[in-house]
Amino acid sequence: DIAFINGRFLPWHEATVPIEDRGFQFGDGVYEVIRTYRGRPFELDAHLNRLDRSAHELSLIQPYTRAQWTEWIQQGIRAAGYAEAKVYLQITRGVAARDHVFPPNVAPTVVMTIRELASFPAKTRETGVITKTCEDLRWGRCDIKSVNLLANVLAREEAKRAGVFEAILVKEGLVTEGSVSNVMVVQSGAVVTAPEGPRILSGVTRTVVLELARAAGIPIREEFLTVESLYTADEVFLTGTTVEVLAVVQVDGRTIGTGRPGPVVKALASRWAALTG
Ligand code: PDD
Repeated sequence: DIAFINGRFLPWHEATVPIEDRGFQFGDGVYEVIRTYRGRPFELDAHLNRLDRSAHELSLIQPYTRAQWTEWIQQGIRAAGYAEAKVYLQITRGVAARDHVFPPNVAPTVVMTIRELASFPAKTRETGVITKTCEDLRWGRCDIKSVNLLANVLAREEAKRAGVFEAILVKEGLVTEGSVSNVMVVQSGAVVTAPEGPRILSGVTRTVVLELARAAGIPIREEFLTVESLYTADEVFLTGTTVEVLAVVQVDGRTIGTGRPGPVVKALASRWAALTG
């Protein structure tokens, strides 16, 4: 595994951050998760754009240029040598005596790790996954990919305890997204997913999958769905860096469609595979 802090690659066990880092004390930071396909980072620019945007929204200084990041990420991936890797980038506001207000003249802490990406079990992909809904307890700026993931962590744990794969978050009766993914449904042949805005993270995978759907002539609607319309959808699926395009065959014990991955998710998953394989 590869570790990097503030412009330097370090041996894993030496890669530590001070206890007064604001990421640790306040969750005052942003992150990205990027994966490789055949050794190349997928949609790197889209992820770095989102990192810039997240940092900007929190008035965090993004200390490195695009060219510098690209160079380090490629260097790290090469050094790690994994067939497929997961690149984690994090920028926190830096190290300062604990005080809520922004500390003056503090340099951000920038961390990168590169770890092996376990390939997703093909069998799960064929059968689809089961899910449950959970209350979306998150704050009002879910569009910022912040390291404040407590509500996501609690939902994910609730899902695990219930023996299901993903928690589908519901805010005031409307489906927002998954705890680590975006949620899409198929209704009468159209793909429907929550609109971009403060309620969801605008997934890089979401954008690519919507483009693939458009290219396939599938109508798209970006609107919030009720839990009831999730239950009665023809198909439900998740998108995300780790899940890619993944069929959901059950929500809260209710079978979706035929209980097997449907034609639209299969078509999109095969287009995804063609794009990334
Ligand atoms: N999470 N929504 C949430 C809440 C997420 O955490 C993620 C990804 C997504 C999908 O975004 P993308 O397609 O850009 O990966 C949607 C990453 C993988 C994580 O936190 O590990």
